[in-house]
Amino acid sequence: MTPTLIATADSHFALAALAELKKANGQIVTELAPGIWSVQSSGDFFALAELWRQKPPVFVRHICPVQTILPLADGLDNVVETAVTTFTHLLEPDWPFSVQTRVLGDLPHKPFDINKPLSQKLVEASGTPLDVRKPFQILSVVLAGEQAYLGLSLAVNNLSDWAGGVRRFAREKGQISRAEFKLLEALEIFKIGLPPRGRALDLGAAPGGWTRVLRQKEQYVTAVDPAWLHPTLQKDKGVRHLRLTAEEYLQDYPDTYDVIVNDMRLDARDSARLMVAYGRCLYPHGLAIITLKLPEKGYDSALDHGLNILRETYTIAGARQLFHNRSEVTVYLQPKP
Ligand SMILES: C[S@@+](CC[C@H](N)C(=O)[O-])C[C@H]1O[C@@H](n2cnc3c(N)ncnc32)[C@H](O)[C@@H]1O
Repeated sequence: MTPTLIATADSHFALAALAELKKANGQIVTELAPGIWSVQSSGDFFALAELWRQKPPVFVRHICPVQTILPLADGLDNVVETAVTTFTHLLEPDWPFSVQTRVLGDLPHKPFDINKPLSQKLVEASGTPLDVRKPFQILSVVLAGEQAYLGLSLAVNNLSDWAGGVRRFAREKGQISRAEFKLLEALEIFKIGLPPRGRALDLGAAPGGWTRVLRQKEQYVTAVDPAWLHPTLQKDKGVRHLRLTAEEYLQDYPDTYDVIVNDMRLDARDSARLMVAYGRCLYPHGLAIITLKLPEKGYDSALDHGLNILRETYTIAGARQLFHNRSEVTVYLQPKP
């Protein structure tokens, strides 16, 4: 079987990702590395990409097309030269592009060995502008085993703008927790803009990474958590910390909010039930984000159950297992009209 695409997921959720591929009529050709598969889809790559652009899968994090397969035995220079010949005339000349290379397994190469010469030569040959941060079109290169897999697609086709869905953020001075990346990634992938000077409720806020991100985005934050917040937030007048559980605050005539976020370390179903109860505290124009913590065994039924509970009050506007998620899925919610 000849692969038409390469799909990537967190290897802990491989079974769920494989089920999503199967449902989309994708047949696994081979596992290239844990959580990375070459796949033959029944239609072409773009049919599946369009289907998933409209309704993205939860666990498959990234896809890219396979249009050319080259032997690595002929050397990386040959990969670069052949790629230039094959893809120069396929690039849309006015749209910024990037080359995204992944090297799987223990091959003695670095992504840079392909990215740099190939992107330079493509710029020279086609005049297409290079933009590695916000590309419109991406030439994906995956080196695995004895082969290089290459394919050109639009960034919107790939489920993520980043190679393999690996979205890294720079560590910032003043950062409170790694959890901040999780919220930043959710805001980016679900294309969420927060209301100017909105009122936000952060459930399970300590030590305060999400609260810090919300403050940077001009939100006035009520942070609910029995645990203490980081000292910098204790001094911040835009933060009100209630040292309560979310259950206790609910009994305490809570206010109404534009934004509710919930990163509580709680069973997915319990957290979803609480979120449903908090539905009455969200303005009709509001939005909510919740991380559903999943058990190692039976994670798929815990997720389905959690999502079904949330559907009582909310529309599920997005649900993805993000790069910065551990054993959890991030869900974007809007109040039901
Ligand atoms: C993963 S941490 C949250 C990290 C936070 N988002 C950040 O960026 O720093 C989970 C938090 O949930 C809190 N938590 C667990 N159960 C809770 C409950 N019932 N009510 C409020 N907070 C709860 C814990 O105290 C813990 O601080």
